Amino acid sequence: FAVCGDELCCVGGGSSVELRSLAQEYGTPLYVYSGDQIVERARMFQNAFADRAHTVCYAVKANSALGILRLLGDQGCGFDIVSGGELARVIAAAGPERAHEWTGRVVFSGVGKTAEEMDSALAAGILQFNVESEAELELLAERAELLQRKARFALRVNPDVFAETHPYISTGLSAHKFGIAIGLARGVYARFREHAWLEATGVSVHIGSQIRQVEPFQAAMERVVALVRELRADGANIRTVDGGGGLGIEYGAEEFSPAAKVCAYANAVRAALGDLDAHLLIEPGRFLVGQAGALVSRVLYTKRNGEKKFVITDAAMNDLIRPALYQAHHEIVPVMQVADAEAETVDVVGPVCESGDFFARDRSLPELEQGDLVALLDAGAYGLSLSSNYNTRLRPAEVLVRSGEAKLIRRRETYEELFAPEMV
Ligand code: LLP
Repeated sequence: FAVCGDELCCVGGGSSVELRSLAQEYGTPLYVYSGDQIVERARMFQNAFADRAHTVCYAVKANSALGILRLLGDQGCGFDIVSGGELARVIAAAGPERAHEWTGRVVFSGVGKTAEEMDSALAAGILQFNVESEAELELLAERAELLQRKARFALRVNPDVFAETHPYISTGLSAHKFGIAIGLARGVYARFREHAWLEATGVSVHIGSQIRQVEPFQAAMERVVALVRELRADGANIRTVDGGGGLGIEYGAEEFSPAAKVCAYANAVRAALGDLDAHLLIEPGRFLVGQAGALVSRVLYTKRNGEKKFVITDAAMNDLIRPALYQAHHEIVPVMQVADAEAETVDVVGPVCESGDFFARDRSLPELEQGDLVALLDAGAYGLSLSSNYNTRLRPAEVLVRSGEAKLIRRRETYEELFAPEMV
């Protein structure tokens, strides 16, 4: 997103589209994504690991729009899923011809997979289950036998590595619910080695999200590599190592070079892998889609309560919950840039009946008036995918822009659709 002339545009592929015209055509609140940037980010990872066998398995939860899954699948990406619903999305995005090929690049993470979810993933022939407990492995063995389909699995190990991030999205410490303590993993692999319907094909790790240093990724991967060597010595045919996702972006206006970040990340992972001969899987989510998305919203009202000025937008916490949930910072930029606009300190809030429904507090912004459009930046990851219909609000529409061409990839919901599953 960049200012072209006097207004904010979605730029990419040598062209630009004005957010103002998209808001006019599709209404607000509206998520706008740069497909060019998403593709560019995926290629950064693919190029950084070009010298070794690897698959970038996009973490679907970050943004599960079918249009975005299609874009990334077409780039040769695989997918990291955490539910039967996400598997259904991958299959829908692939279409019947490619469904089999694309599900062959799926890894299935998550601490609470159900029997039904395992069954659908086994039927789809996914690449690998990232198993998070012994009890889960027992159920997977049962389902695999029942369906007479071999289940390829990796244990997701908990490496007990500290990575600095928000406490809600840190996962790599033994205090967290995720994975199997790395010290116990070898025993678990050994216990299931002879099982006819299970095949241990990998080891996986994921230490958390929005991690901006690369050292914790290296530390975690070093522990995984050591385990792989032990397992191979035990006779296991370990072929994949999955480093998980979690590489962070910069929210806000700071200078940020995504290419340099991916390079540093790749060097750290590469250093840990050394000469290990294994197919590398990584599961980036936020890094691929976060900065490619903006939530465009219109100012409904402005008002003063005592000392404070409030800017009330038509987007709310149900559309983008990150500020309310994680005190996350999202830059807010007026879509129309007014030269020499006065700055003022405001709270930007939504219409939902919760005091937590804010996008910014005491933020200095150019003066905004009723009817103005604003863009909340870096909203492509965990935006719509974490949205809800709270207050019976219709969720935003979504537009994907590529090379100057804008396509609606999700139309706005209707009230009838919201009530459809309900009975009086
Ligand atoms: N792999 C696994 C197993 C994960 O649990 C996650 C994210 C990812 C990959 C992708 O992580 P990423 O590359 O996107 O950091 N809602 C929070 C983030 C939750 C992350 C959950 N797991 C937020 O808005 O910051």
